[in-house]
Amino acid sequence: MLSSGMEKAINAQINAEYYSSYLYLAMSAHFASGSLAGMAHWMRMQAQEELFHGMKMYDFVHERGGMVALTAIAKPPANWKTPLAVFSEVLKHEQKVTALINELVNHALDERDHATNIFLQWFVTEQVEEEASASAIVDKLKLIGNDANGLFVLDQELAQRVFTLPVA
Ligand code: FEO
Repeated sequence: MLSSGMEKAINAQINAEYYSSYLYLAMSAHFASGSLAGMAHWMRMQAQEELFHGMKMYDFVHERGGMVALTAIAKPPANWKTPLAVFSEVLKHEQKVTALINELVNHALDERDHATNIFLQWFVTEQVEEEASASAIVDKLKLIGNDANGLFVLDQELAQRVFTLPVA
């Protein structure tokens, strides 16, 4: 059974995952209105992935005898100056999420809640991937600079992203 402190901490992370989804959906809308359909698609897939993260925690809370308490999701920003500004914010946001996950792991270890610790390891690994993929796109955008052809090619590449629900 989850302690009330652990339950509260995971509930806060569920909100953070849903905020991430909302943030990426706002970025998707931004790109869609700016005719960068591939980037809009990538962000939409990213938003779906964050919903999955939230649901994975939602199910875990109930599985451990706790209760999910949903709270208001903050309003995300709506406009960015450049694609580089958007993806730099993704990277910064994912680094922040990594810190939140690490705090949750510390909390679980402090409580000697081994089941929660093991559950969270999936997210620890996932964050390595999340930061790496955002970082790779930031690097490409830096190389591209103001080259419209380069931006076009990257947009086509990001249009290929597929999200399939991981096996829980
Ligand atoms: Fe749910 Fe992008 O971390």
